[in-house]
Amino acid sequence: MRTSLVIANWKLNGDAELLKQMAEHFHQSEIQQHVSVVVCPPAVYLKTADVLLNAIGIAIGGQNCSEFEHGAYTGEISAKMLADCGCNYVLIGHSERRSLFAESDAVMAGKVQQAQAAGLTPVLCIGETLEQREAGELEHVIAQQLSSACKEIDFENLVIAYEPVWAIGTGKTASPEQAQEVHRMIRDWVAKQAPETAQKIQILYGGSVKAENAAELFSQADIDGGLIGGASLDTQQFDAICQAAKDK
Ligand code: 13P
Repeated sequence: MRTSLVIANWKLNGDAELLKQMAEHFHQSEIQQHVSVVVCPPAVYLKTADVLLNAIGIAIGGQNCSEFEHGAYTGEISAKMLADCGCNYVLIGHSERRSLFAESDAVMAGKVQQAQAAGLTPVLCIGETLEQREAGELEHVIAQQLSSACKEIDFENLVIAYEPVWAIGTGKTASPEQAQEVHRMIRDWVAKQAPETAQKIQILYGGSVKAENAAELFSQADIDGGLIGGASLDTQQFDAICQAAKDK
C-alpha cells in the first residue's frame, strides 16, 4: 500500500501571510495524519515555512535546486541549503524550469543526485507537450526524461510527478484514463530498472487539479496523489484536494 502524497507548488506566488493562513487552517485539521502533505513556497519563505508548517506535520520542499554542491554559481541554491532550511523534498525538472529557463535533460541527473545526497526526496517532474502527444511520441518522451534523470540514483527515495505540459495552468486536465495510462507506463519503466521499488514508488499527477476533479483522478490505480499549482494558493481548495487523496 502506498501513502497518498499531495504537494503544493506555489511557483512565483504567495507570501508569509499565506503561510500563516495555511498554518492556522491545517492546525485544526488532521488530514496530515492520513495523507503526506508538502508545501513548496518560493525559497525565501522556507525558513518561515519550517517554523509554521513542519511544526504541524506538513513537510516543506524547494521548487528547484542546483546540480552543483557549492561554488561560484550566482543565484543558485544547493540541495544541502534547502535541507538546512528544513526541507524534506525538492521539485526537479518542472516543465517551467525546462521551457522557460532552458534546463535540459542533461542537468536532471545531477540535480536528483544532489538532492538525494543532501537527504532530500527529489520529486522528478516529467511530461509531454501537446505536439509530442499528437505526434505519437508520448512513450518515447517519458522514457527519455526518466532515463536521463535517473542515473546512479536511489529509486527508494524518489517521487515522480507526471505533468502533461498542455494541462499545466490551462484548465485542461488529462482525463483520469489518460493520466492512468501514463502513470502505468511510468511504473512499468521503474519496474524494469528497480523491480523491488515499482510498487512502492509514489507517482503524482499534476496539471489543473482542482477540488472538483481531484477525487476522480486520485481514484485511478497508479495515481498516488497530486502536484498542485494554482489551486494550492487557496487554502480551502488545497485542503479539499488533500481530503480527496485521503478518500482514495
Ligand atoms: P496548475 O495546477 O496551476 O495547472 O499547475 C500544475 C503544476 O505545474 C504544479 O507543479
